[in-house]
Parts: sequence; C-alpha cells; structure tokens
Amino acid sequence: MKLQGKVAVVTGGARGIGRAIGERYAAEGARVVVADLIGADCDATAAAIGHGAIGVAVDVTKQASIEALIAKTVKVAGGIDILVNNAGVFDMGPLLEITHEGYQKIFAVNVEGLLFTMQAAARQMIAQGRGGKIINFASQAGRRGEAFVAVYCASKATVISLTQSAGLELAKHKINVNGIAPGVVDTPMWDHVDSLFAKYENLPLGEKKKQVGLAVPYGRMGTPEDMTGMALFLASADSDYIVAQTYNVDGGNWMS
Ligand SMILES: NC(=O)c1ccc[n+]([C@@H]2O[C@H](COP(=O)([O-])OP(=O)(O)OC[C@H]3O[C@@H](n4cnc5c(N)ncnc54)[C@H](O)[C@@H]3O)[C@@H](O)[C@H]2O)c1
Repeated sequence: MKLQGKVAVVTGGARGIGRAIGERYAAEGARVVVADLIGADCDATAAAIGHGAIGVAVDVTKQASIEALIAKTVKVAGGIDILVNNAGVFDMGPLLEITHEGYQKIFAVNVEGLLFTMQAAARQMIAQGRGGKIINFASQAGRRGEAFVAVYCASKATVISLTQSAGLELAKHKINVNGIAPGVVDTPMWDHVDSLFAKYENLPLGEKKKQVGLAVPYGRMGTPEDMTGMALFLASADSDYIVAQTYNVDGGNWMS
C-alpha cells in the first residue's frame, strides 16, 4: 500500500492509460479523482475503480474548469497529493497543411492544459505544505520529430521542457515533478493514430499498429497497465529524490 491516504487526480482518467493508473493507485490505497471531459464517463470509471474514487468532469483547456476540479477535489477529498497530467490529444497531417486552428487544438490540451493544471495543483499543494507529486505525460514523440506529426511531437517536447523547469522550481516545496514518455500503447488514442496513418501512408486499417508493435525491441505494443509501474513509482515516496526527469516506458524504443 504505497499510496495509503493519498488523494490522486488523474486527468484523462476515464479511459486508456489514465484509467489503468487510477485502478493501480486505488489498489495501493489512494483516493482517485477521475477527471475527464464527460461527467458520465468519469462517474462510470470511478464506480469501476471503487475505493472512494469520484468522477469530476473537466476540460483542461478552460481555466475555470481546472479551478473547479481542484476546488471539488479539496472539498470532497480534503486536499490533493498527486496529480497525473495525462489528458492528451493526437492529430497529424502534412506540414504544408498545418493550420493555426489545428495547431492550437493540440497545444491547448497537451501544453496549456497540462501547464495550467500543474500550476493549479501546485498552488494547492504549496498551500497544504505537505509536498506532492506531479506526473506529466510526454511521449517518445517528444524525443524526436516525425514526418506528418510535427505539432504533436512539438507539444510533447514542450511537456519534457515544462517538466524540467517546474521540477526545478517546485523541488524546494517537496513537490516532485517528473514525466513519463510512453512509446506505443494500445489505447483508443492509438486506434485514432492508426486510422490517420492509414490515410496519410495509404495503409490498410490496423497495419500501422501491427508495424509499430513489431518494431518495439520488447516485441509488442505497450498496454495501459505497462505504464502503471512507473506511474506508481513516481507517485510514491520511493521517488522522493527524483526531480525534473522524464522516463521512457517504451519497451526499448528510445535510449535517452
Ligand atoms: N497511447 C499511446 O501510444 C501514447 C504514447 C505516448 C504518449 N501518450 C500520451 O499518454 C496520455 C494518455 O494517452 P491514451 O493513449 O490513454 O489516450 P486516450 O485518447 O485513450 O485517453 C485520453 C483521455 O484524455 C481525455 N481528454 C482529452 N482532451 C481533454 C480535455 N480537454 N480535458 C480533459 N480530458 C481530456 C479524453 O477524453 C480521454 O479520456 C496522453 O497524454 C497521450 O498523448 C500516449
């Protein structure tokens, strides 16, 4: 029980990687706040997780919604110890066709949403005076660029940078900010990724997913559960001396 008595907010927690992390945290004693776009989905996932988990609808692109999430968490659970900044969106397309609107859509969630949720949680953690853990979801896409994926890759490189700066700034408050860079993980997001690659690389549906899975040194795509060991480590006291790092959890795809 590494998270006994802790309160953990997981954005994008209704499905995919976020949901698996919520389940793992609850099994380790945490009270989980499932924070996602649609209230009914949050409630359903929270009910499945149990252990006092609650669902709170949030749109991390809206400052008022972020504030309401933190306020509700404090009201219902008495504070916040762990934030998993996991909400994210993916899109891709040729460089010559990138629009301001498409760019802003990705950055609004993956960068601004992550930054201002981190800021709101950090303010609350500092006010509480008992430290905290913030885990930001980057990606292997943040380690190097990729044709057709410029904006998403840039958004995740920004997450790695924000994690470094915030980690250095908040360490004195005993708030550890670290990140996870997954490789390819079989979630609803990857179904969407696969359908976009099918369009831009003229592949049959499912083919890109097969290819990326075979290319992983470990031999397969990751599962959401594969992400939870690192997410637990970074949320627990075991990682107290770890500051501003982003860890690859990718079956060997990337090496730095
Ligand atoms: N699946 C992968 O292969 C992979 C690889 C690298 C990084 N990641 C990152 O991991 C994180 C989780 O990915 P996933 O595969 O579980 O994705 P997913 O699409 O399955 O789940 C993401 C969740 O985020 C929520 N969300 C989107 N916009 C939101 C908003 N504005 N406010 C609140 N919630 C919002 C969605 O509703 C969804 O439930 C993302 O940040 C993603 O970029 C995923």
